[in-house]
Order: sequence, then C-alpha cells, then structure tokens
Amino acid sequence: MSEKIIIFDTTLRDGEQSPGASLTVFEKVEIARQLERMKVDVIEAGFPVSSPAQFEAVQRIADQSSVIIAGLCRAVEKDIKVAADALKNARKKRIHTFTSTSDIHILGKFGDSRYGESLAEKRKTVIQMTMDAVKYARTFTEDVEYSAEDAGRTDVGYLAEVIEAAIAAGATTVNIPDTTGYCMPQEFGAKIAELKKRVPNIHQAVISVHCHNDLGLSVANSLSAVLNGARQVECTVNGIGERAGNASMEEFVMALNVRKDIWPFYTDILTREIYNTSRMVSGFTGMIVQPNKAIVGDNAFAHESGIHQDGMLKNRDTYEIMKPEDVGITHNRIVLGRHSGRHGLVARMKALGYELSPSELDDIYEKFLLVADRKKEVYDEDLRVMMGEEVQKHFDEQYYQLEYLQVTLGTSIVPTATVKVKAKEKSIQESSVGDGPVDAAFKAVERALKTHVTIENYQVRSVTGGRDAVGEVILRIRDNGKAFTGKGNSTDIVEASVRAFLNALNHKKQYDKDRHEQTVSIWQDNPVRFV
Ligand code: KIV
Ligand code: ZN
Repeated sequence: MSEKIIIFDTTLRDGEQSPGASLTVFEKVEIARQLERMKVDVIEAGFPVSSPAQFEAVQRIADQSSVIIAGLCRAVEKDIKVAADALKNARKKRIHTFTSTSDIHILGKFGDSRYGESLAEKRKTVIQMTMDAVKYARTFTEDVEYSAEDAGRTDVGYLAEVIEAAIAAGATTVNIPDTTGYCMPQEFGAKIAELKKRVPNIHQAVISVHCHNDLGLSVANSLSAVLNGARQVECTVNGIGERAGNASMEEFVMALNVRKDIWPFYTDILTREIYNTSRMVSGFTGMIVQPNKAIVGDNAFAHESGIHQDGMLKNRDTYEIMKPEDVGITHNRIVLGRHSGRHGLVARMKALGYELSPSELDDIYEKFLLVADRKKEVYDEDLRVMMGEEVQKHFDEQYYQLEYLQVTLGTSIVPTATVKVKAKEKSIQESSVGDGPVDAAFKAVERALKTHVTIENYQVRSVTGGRDAVGEVILRIRDNGKAFTGKGNSTDIVEASVRAFLNALNHKKQYDKDRHEQTVSIWQDNPVRFV
C-alpha cells in the first residue's frame, strides 16, 4: 500500500526570499495558477504582514484558488490577524505560524530579559508563545501549521516538548525545518523517528519537513524524513529559496516517482507540468536554471558522448532512468506560424500553463504576428518570453517605462546613448557617453532618474537559436545592500539591456514603497507575547 505525501509549495514565500528574486503580484498570481494546475496540495502564498504587496498577493491568490492557501506569520497577534484577513476569501485556508526553538536562535532573538533571565526560562516563554499563537490562529481556521524554526539544530528533548504543546494548542500540521541546512540524512531521519516516539499526541497532527540546501542535502533529508514518518514535504520549484535554497520540488517528486520500487509513497503532482512550471518560475524570477540541474536543466536529458548516444539509439533505458516526456519535455516541438491564428495561439499558451484574459490575448496576438512575420517560426520559448513581457508590463507601467532609445556606436567614435523614460505622467530625456553602448545607455537612464546603483551581474542569452532570435538580458543591481533582478527582451540587445535595467529599478522602487508603508520588517524578529 502506497501512502500519499502532501506537497506544500513555498516557491512564493521562501523561494521569493532568494536574493534578488522578488516577484510582482501579477507574476505570483500566474505562478499560483500553474502550481494548482500541477496539483500541489498547499501553496504558501507569502508573508502577509511583511508588506502591502505581500498582503495583496496572498489575498488575490486566496481569492482565485481551490487548493489550500497558507500565509506565514510570526507568533505575533498582529501577524496572525493580518494573515487571516488576507486569507479571508480562501476556499481552504491555512495559517502558518512559527517560533524559534534552537538555543542559538532563542539566545540570539530573545536575549531581552522580558523573555526570561536564563535559557530555561526563555525556553518556557517560547512554549507559551507557541501555544498562544496556535490558539489564536485556530480562532480563524481549523487548519493551523506550526513550525519550529531551526529544529534541525534543536535539542530533540526540548523540540518534543514544543511540538507536544503546539499540537495540544490545536496545530494540525507540525513542521520540522532544517532552517540552516545543517543536518545529515540519517541524523534528520532519526530526529523525526524520535519525535514520533517522544511526542504522545503526535498522531493528532501531520508531520511536515522543510529542508534547506546549504550542504546540498535538502532532498536527501526530506526523503529520509519521509522514511521516518513525515507526510508533508515543503519544497520550491527549481529549489529556489534563502541562501542555497530549499528542497527542489521536482527532484523530490521524481525521486519517489522513479523509485516506486523501493518507496511506498506517492504525490498527486502531475509530473508532465513540471517543466512548464520550472520555466515559468525561472522566467519570472530571473533565476536561470543551471544546465546540469537534475530533472529540469537543459542537459538533464542530453547525451553527448558517442558511447552514450549509441547506447541510447539501441535502447533508451541504457542511460535514461526517466523519460523527458514524464516531466513535460517534448522533443517534437510544436512550432506556430502566422497562419496558426488566435485559436492556435490560445491552445499553445494553455498547454504552456498560461491563461490569457481577452485583453492579454489581444496584446499577445499582436506581438505574435510581429514575431511570426519576422521569424516565420514561433517556438515555445518565444511564447514564454511574450507572456513574461505581458505580465511584466502590468508592473512596469506603475513606475518607469522606456519610451525611446537611440545609440550611436562604431569602431572610431565614443559610444553615446539618448534615452527617454516615462516616469508616472512625465517623460524625461537624457544622454550620456560610456564604455560601450550598454554602459552609455545605463548612464543616460541613471541621469534621467537621478540615481546610481551597482550592477553586480549582467547576462545576455538568445531565447531560441538563429540570428533572428530574441535576446534576453537578466541583470542584478544592488542598492543599500539589497539586490533586485531585472529582465528585458528584444531582438536588439542594447534595448533588452535598458528594459532589464528599468525593470530592476522598478523592483527597487516597489521595494522602497513597500518598506515605507510596511508596519513591521520580516526578519527583525521582535515577538510579542499575547498574555
Ligand atoms: O527555514 C525555515 O525555518 C522557515 C520557516 C519559517 C518555516 O522558512
Ligand atoms: Zn525556510
């Protein structure tokens, strides 16, 4: 008998905490739709109290979804109330609250004497805060998850006490995070087994795990936990997340799937949607998937050496443990052309996971005709770029937009760029020379917007093969220690660069606006006791 493992996807919360990966509300809504289509069980849509944009994203996802939508909150009354408000219209809602349980975290975060004088007293305070938070969350929903932050480095005896208290207070899922990615698989598995033994009311809750990848062991640790009693696994698409990321959804799911012979567990994930989801997340976050990434990397199913190719031609099983089609990678690419018409375009977009509103369809069809005229053949990757631009447009329109760009360059002249940028209702024009056309254009933009930022990463690639391919620029800027990613596309790479630069500046602008409006900061932990 095979048992189900609940897939709790935290791409939109922990995944978005990847440096520079901030997603707009529009992008999050689109990704949530695709996650639901792929049949994840729970979507953690964000941390509602942390900013107005996070609140709005959770609210809009809650409004549209049929799966369980979770909102994260500290063990703070206000966080929980705000999360409950954001989740108000969800068909199925979950409040996810957490306290820190390791000595390192307790001493670091609760150093103030109001939490107790000694470690023993502070530990008692954490248990009380946990119970208060869970009980309060239960006044809004019957589905409450409690996480013991840094459980991986928490003494198992104390961890068992906290978990027992959380369940007694009403937690229906208890999550054991390896927050710092410190544990070894056998050690983490043993911790889950020990909790099953030591916590008398453990059968009243689902045991969940949430593993980080600092030592590259997040999927191995999640599997080991499942073997020892965990029945929910928290993961992200492409394994994105804080620092080295979280357990990768596609790796965990396919490990269970490919090795059914030894794992008596299954998930409900429609594995054929994995590739589309991976591309969508990569496109929207600007986090390129490394070519040798398991399951979804460009080389994951490529056979290069003659011996391998020969083996594959004789029998695919020689070097292939799963088929690319199993995860949605198809070799027979469907290519659209001008005569494919609107129906053809809608059908292909749908197959790629995008649902178009009538106005989006009008815009995209127009773009599609232009590309089809120029290139004759339009590939899936071109369509993904068009959709990315469409979603990005809604966001960029609120801040800075490129109106005009002119660049002069040659082997014996100083590169010069003139840009006109629309900021709200105003158009600003500026020119600059630079060390090449891209530098000149960036300097002109900075002049126009009276800003200066560090560009710490700049990548340009062609979206599909061929000389007429669309060029995509992904760059990362840093300002006051905070990173922002920007994306831009065009057949002209200077234009793509300027679009990417403006998009990164727009993310910075959104962040500044949020920071200004937000009431509490996410990681500046200052929990308040309810009692
Ligand atoms: O890594 C972690 O501990 C977390 C918790 C908030 C679940 O992300
Ligand atoms: Zn985490």
